[in-house]
Amino acid sequence: MVVWSPFRFNSGREMANRFAIAPLTTDSSHEDGTATKNELEFVRRRAASGFGATISSAAYVEQDGRSWQGIGATHEGHLCSLQRLAEAMRTAGGLAILQIYDGGRIAKPELIGEQCLHAPSAVASLRPGAKTPRAMTANEVGSLIASFREAASLARKAGFDGVEIHGANHYAVHQFFSPRANHRVDNWGGTLSKRMNFPLAVAQAVRDALGPKLITGLALRVPRRCAAVAELARAPSEFLSSVLAITVRLVLTSRHPMFIWWGPELIQFYNDAYRETMGPERHPSALGARGRGCWDEIWDIIGPQIDYVMAGNGATWHEDQLVPVTRHGRRENVWWTYSFGPIDFEGKVGGVLVVCRDVTSEHMAREALNLINEELKHRVKNTLTVLGAVATQTFRDISSKADLEKYQGRLAAFGRAQDLLTAANWAAAPLQDVISTALIPYRTDNGRFTVSGPPLIVKSRQALALSLAIHELATNALKYGALSVAGGHVSITWTSEDQEGEPKFVFVWREFGGPPASEPAAVGFGSRLISRVLQDDFGGSVEVKYGSPVRTVERTRRARSRSEPRVSRRR
Ligand SMILES: Cc1cc2nc3c(=O)[nH]c(=O)nc-3n(C[C@H](O)[C@H](O)[C@H](O)COP(=O)(O)O)c2cc1C
Repeated sequence: MVVWSPFRFNSGREMANRFAIAPLTTDSSHEDGTATKNELEFVRRRAASGFGATISSAAYVEQDGRSWQGIGATHEGHLCSLQRLAEAMRTAGGLAILQIYDGGRIAKPELIGEQCLHAPSAVASLRPGAKTPRAMTANEVGSLIASFREAASLARKAGFDGVEIHGANHYAVHQFFSPRANHRVDNWGGTLSKRMNFPLAVAQAVRDALGPKLITGLALRVPRRCAAVAELARAPSEFLSSVLAITVRLVLTSRHPMFIWWGPELIQFYNDAYRETMGPERHPSALGARGRGCWDEIWDIIGPQIDYVMAGNGATWHEDQLVPVTRHGRRENVWWTYSFGPIDFEGKVGGVLVVCRDVTSEHMAREALNLINEELKHRVKNTLTVLGAVATQTFRDISSKADLEKYQGRLAAFGRAQDLLTAANWAAAPLQDVISTALIPYRTDNGRFTVSGPPLIVKSRQALALSLAIHELATNALKYGALSVAGGHVSITWTSEDQEGEPKFVFVWREFGGPPASEPAAVGFGSRLISRVLQDDFGGSVEVKYGSPVRTVERTRRARSRSEPRVSRRR
């Protein structure tokens, strides 16, 4: 088999077989970057199995670039340690390759001091607790390249067969070609080809130091995301020219969770924001995977929705939908608000773009609020019942019957307004609903009331005050006003307009066809409520006019200004 056959590099060095031991740092070197005895013993044992090559754990090329306490290759003082390492790696005759690295923004602050963190740009890594590095100057970039050259030269002197530059796993070389970590606008950043300038300059420097007879290697890890893009773009020309390229770019640059299913196999692609919602078990295996296999557990929910979109029926929209998924090791109830939209491709639907949001916390908060609301409603009801019972007991005397009825009526009006506000979560209620709820007991006959005005929302305090006021006005109208005779009726109107740049709300209660009204001799609770409570809660003025045949209560409010309340009464 070919894997057992030798492999000859261009430099002339030869591996006895095609197996190489992957680099594995043990974080156990001396503080000065020299290898410990145990470390060398470990390397010796690993190399003893006869691999074609062994790659060392990564050696730092600058003190300030250490990401762990490993071996160093920064100066002649490291030479002896490097020689021992090369010798241990050759235990069974395999090639000895020294890997070299700089930590950049993911160097360990505890080892180097936070202020020494350097990187292509001042952008913190996404790792939890990551510190923001200092952006390297052009001079520093040049001197880091020189440090790589110096490390390679030490490797040559120590007898290694070659050097591998660690350009993967988010270390400095990787940071330079990552668009997320590198925001530079000079020769070392910008387009992909400019972002590759640093890795290539390092490779050239290392090659210069090693010469043509030793191996120069550059380890790059293609992120899964790139692999998935490649998968999505089986035919590169098709991909590059297509709407898919734009969609993928849109998904990648967005911070909103987004996901793509592409082609008949529903090959998957998603952005970082979406990854956050998946839980650790599904990422990265979901990238580039087929949709059906990945989401089997919820296919009965999402399968028909995907089919609907792929069949060309247009987009779907799902609000606060329960789609339980397995994440963090257990099946979780997760509520989502999402849309599946078609990605049109050459006249057909090529895939599905998912824009979604995990709304579980909002859903739970709403459920908790509903629960509290129900409890509150229950308690208010109980309190009102108790108040009613206490009043019945207190005013048992037959002479108090009229007052008792009045009190019970007000309590009931209050109770109905509370119900309305409970339904609206105590924040606000539509004015139309406030009025119709307050009028429920008086709507004995259609046509007795005409109610009209633009849609408006009133705050909870205003809703309560207005409900009580309407109750007073309606009771009064029933006893003495328009509702006390067969032909009378009440008109309720309101307007809301800007006047002199301020919103002004005018609410008018007018009675027609009732007996002539005259100003009452004494001011009772009802009158006080209308004039004072309304005035306060609406921040405006009240006007009551008495006279025949119209009975009017006018409420005005300047919504934003509570100054100059005006009260006048006409009847
Ligand atoms: C403890 C530990 C230390 C590692 N040190 C290095 C390292 O110094 N350099 C490097 O390129 N990779 C390093 N790796 C990555 C491994 O070489 C290897 O690529 C990784 O474990 C994934 O294995 P796989 O490629 O077989 O999937 C390390 C991995 C582990 C778990």
